Amino acid sequence: MISSRLLRSTLLAALLGWPWLARAEDKSGQEVYNQTCIVCHHGGLLGAPKLSDGKRWSRLVKEGVDDLIPAALGGIRQMPAKGGNPNLSDLEVARAVVWMINQHGAQAGEPGEAAVKGWRAKADRQKKR
Ligand code: HEC
Repeated sequence: MISSRLLRSTLLAALLGWPWLARAEDKSGQEVYNQTCIVCHHGGLLGAPKLSDGKRWSRLVKEGVDDLIPAALGGIRQMPAKGGNPNLSDLEVARAVVWMINQHGAQAGEPGEAAVKGWRAKADRQKKR
């Protein structure tokens, strides 16, 4: 028989431990930008659109997340997939793109699970071309 004490500690671990663990690899868009994307997008390395370049980003904002996020996930021309950081989850990369375009007047919200799956599928389709 499972002791009630074991049951209680298992439940506690499920309630407290799991969300806490999940958060450890669940970075905000700004954190992802500061850790990875900044390398190229701050100074314009390899021709990356500088985050401070309002003109270029306003054009990208118009392209929309359905173009930008698959490009960031799968890579585009000189930009490697996920900015070269495979440890990032798809959601984290999507959040970074959202954060970047929101610096330029977009009002995109937290990406939903279904949307992230769709962007991943598009990125994989584009890679095969
Ligand atoms: C190694 C350099 C590098 C890193 C790191 C990098 N990028 Fe880029 N990024 C580029 C370059 C270069 C381009 C321009 C690609 C082009 O249009 O030719 C670009 C373009 C983009 C675009 C525009 C895509 C489009 O459709 O035109 C987005 C969005 C983007 N990056 C997001 C990110 C995000 C988010 C990160 C961090 C996870 C990141 N980048 C990290 C180099 C980088």
